[in-house]
Amino acid sequence: MGKPSIFITRRLPAEVVEPYQEQLDIEMWPEEDEAVDRETLLAEAGRVDGLVTMLTDQVDEELLAAGNSLGIVANMAVGYDNVDVKTAENRGTAITNTPDVLTETTADLTFSLLMAAARRIVEAGNYIKEDAWNHWSPLLLAGTDVHHKTIGIVGMGRIGEAVARRAKGFQMDILYHNRSRKEDVEDEIGARYTSFDELLENADYVVSLAPLTDETRHMFNAEAFQKMKDTAIFINASRGALMDEKALEKALRDEQIAGAGLDVFEEEPIRAGHPLVSMPGVVCLPHIGSATKETRYKMMRLCLDNVVRYFEEKPLLSPVSR
Ligand code: DGY
Repeated sequence: MGKPSIFITRRLPAEVVEPYQEQLDIEMWPEEDEAVDRETLLAEAGRVDGLVTMLTDQVDEELLAAGNSLGIVANMAVGYDNVDVKTAENRGTAITNTPDVLTETTADLTFSLLMAAARRIVEAGNYIKEDAWNHWSPLLLAGTDVHHKTIGIVGMGRIGEAVARRAKGFQMDILYHNRSRKEDVEDEIGARYTSFDELLENADYVVSLAPLTDETRHMFNAEAFQKMKDTAIFINASRGALMDEKALEKALRDEQIAGAGLDVFEEEPIRAGHPLVSMPGVVCLPHIGSATKETRYKMMRLCLDNVVRYFEEKPLLSPVSR
């Protein structure tokens, strides 16, 4: 029997892929910056035994049905809202994601985004680029403090915990809201569990880190923004669809909240003309939560390790189930 065949939906570095060529017959979409087109993806799904997908690929009923001999889909992200896990399970297609390897890196970015929004870092950098710095002045680019403030983390998963640990270092009061209480985190970090409303009402920084599900979609809506302090800064580093973007725009415009740091958007990529991009007090990033070279390499390797293990009939390292 020949090697199992797989298709990777983005061009990954040769140094990552080559070592796996002994065990797998690997084809890759040739572009690094451009997603595979749907027609090619469907055709490849019908041809191969396994897929390595990105969060930009819809692994839906149509794709899974096209995959006659598709045994595994390894999704290169911790979030798997782009995958129809129920249909995959029913069809017996294994799904894996990339937890753990990106936790600290994504927490670093989430905290950087919070600090960038609070201390106007991007604006200050641009100020120099625009050659606008003529004098020191008492309130030039004055932001708001991070230390000793209250952070409210919505979604206390691994990344939420890692953000809470960073917040503890800044001597912040830590509130969290989650599907279930995490008493170990409360003991270790001193985080306090609250209702969603209590968190919104008390946090200086409201940080969205929950996964996208039917329950969390648009949980940050007009009503939620209304409950926040008018000095609050909203940070979203999980998925854009957790927030109602129009409601966020309005809350910022009406000064119901003071600012936002956004790494994710309802529809990505956003363009420079997107209203949030030019709003004062808003920092927008192009979904780079886990984007360090070290971590992205680990994510790629975790996908490929899962694929190899699947065909060797070994337990998967990070299987996803409903
Ligand atoms: C994830 O892994 O879900 C991130 O959003 C992409 O790095």
